[in-house]
Amino acid sequence: MEYKELNRTGLLIPSIGMGTWGIGGYSNPDYSKDEEMIEILRKGIEFGLTLIDTAEMYGDGHSEELVGEAIKTFPREKIFIITKVLPENLRYKDLINSAEKSLKRLKTDYIDLYLIHAPNPRIPIKESMQAMEKLREEGLIKFIGVSNFNVAQMKEAQRCLRNNHIVANQVEYSLFYRKIEKDILPYCEKEGITLIAYSPLARGLIPKDKFIKKIALKYNKTASQLALNWLIKKPNVVAIPKSSKIERLKEFATSTGWNLSEDDEKLILNYVNSLNLF
Ligand SMILES: NC(=O)c1ccc[n+]([C@@H]2O[C@H](COP(=O)([O-])OP(=O)(O)OC[C@H]3O[C@@H](n4cnc5c(N)ncnc54)[C@H](OP(=O)(O)O)[C@@H]3O)[C@@H](O)[C@H]2O)c1
Repeated sequence: MEYKELNRTGLLIPSIGMGTWGIGGYSNPDYSKDEEMIEILRKGIEFGLTLIDTAEMYGDGHSEELVGEAIKTFPREKIFIITKVLPENLRYKDLINSAEKSLKRLKTDYIDLYLIHAPNPRIPIKESMQAMEKLREEGLIKFIGVSNFNVAQMKEAQRCLRNNHIVANQVEYSLFYRKIEKDILPYCEKEGITLIAYSPLARGLIPKDKFIKKIALKYNKTASQLALNWLIKKPNVVAIPKSSKIERLKEFATSTGWNLSEDDEKLILNYVNSLNLF
């Protein structure tokens, strides 16, 4: 595993973590595979995927409950928990309430990184950022971040913070979806903001792609490993792939420590452009 500094915090986080959308349900809770899911999350942690991304939205809170169960057997400081507050809960009191409920479900005293899941133009961001600062003052969250924010929204959020930095923006980014390279990625690079790439496997499309698989094979790697390795070569990018299969988590955790050649990268990018995905 490779580690990166979370924006100007001095804290090192793994460059590859675990997504949990679908662990414990999607929009509704799914209690049918709890034991299996807890075991899968624990294995992922043992492989080095100690950064775990969840949200109050996932499984209507059940994903957080499973993460809470899974981390119980590890020293808390070895785990980096990211969770997110829904856009409808961005009023000051609602945001504090959401964080407290997430903490209960996660059975922990603090959230490492708390993100606004997506902007809500109907609620002034200043109000949400004041609540975020309050949570940080009280030690309930360690760091403040956002998700699905564009550059203007990131700047506005930062302006509303008195004593803190936006340390991360979580956005969709993969070999198959590179829209953020136009503006969000360069802005984050300039400001040192950590970019957390979600859906880094293009929701399962990349691991199945014949062309990417063929190039990966030259390096004795899988398409997922190639896709993750390509992402985390960018200095401020970390990725949070999701799988509910132990062998795939192992694959994710061993994606680092090798280099795709420039020629192969060009071949892949030309191929991806020819797909006209966006
Ligand atoms: N902030 C946001 O708005 C936002 C939005 C979306 C996602 N996220 C976060 O980012 C995480 C990752 O994104 P994601 O779950 O959308 O997509 P992803 O990580 O790009 O892809 C996950 C999907 O790929 C499948 N997969 C993995 N390896 C595979 C393989 N070798 N062959 C075939 N299929 C394979 C997984 O299925 P199996 O489980 O069966 O392996 C899963 O369905 C989420 O879990 C969530 O934590 C955040």
